[in-house]
Amino acid sequence: MEQRTLSVDSKDRVAIYTSLGPQLRELLAEERDLIAAMANFSALLKESFGWHWIGFYRVVGAELVLGPFQGPVACVRIGYGKGVCGMAWQEEKTLVVPDVDKFPGHIACSPHSRSEIVVPVRARDGHIAAVLDIDSSELDDFTAVDAHALEVLCEQLQPLFE
Ligand code: SME
Repeated sequence: MEQRTLSVDSKDRVAIYTSLGPQLRELLAEERDLIAAMANFSALLKESFGWHWIGFYRVVGAELVLGPFQGPVACVRIGYGKGVCGMAWQEEKTLVVPDVDKFPGHIACSPHSRSEIVVPVRARDGHIAAVLDIDSSELDDFTAVDAHALEVLCEQLQPLFE
């Protein structure tokens, strides 16, 4: 099956991210369950941008474990420091990968993923409790604009972690 990512230029992206803030706030005001919030968060991004894979991995002990997502079946467990997700967790910072084939240790869940961004999600006390992972079927699809906007959106999840 052909996989396509919607083409959204950077100016439109800023407008979309700006509108997603209040939409997410409204959803979280109605329901404070973390898993439900992550599920709708992923769906909002999927509807808005159409990226190939959007979802969360939660920190469970010494691993990341697959959480709510939109897209094809994905690997379930990722070790600390492994792949883009595990490295974002270890380095405690957002990683933008323009070409996944050039990232040593990239974990390929789908042949359609060409570029990727992973944003650490912090709990109230500041520790990393999850990561948001987005894969695009386009090369070089993410910039600092996406990194900043997604970090701001992820901050809304903070109060939901125990
Ligand atoms: N590519 C990720 C693995 C998760 S999938 O993309 C959904 C990584 O290297 O950590």
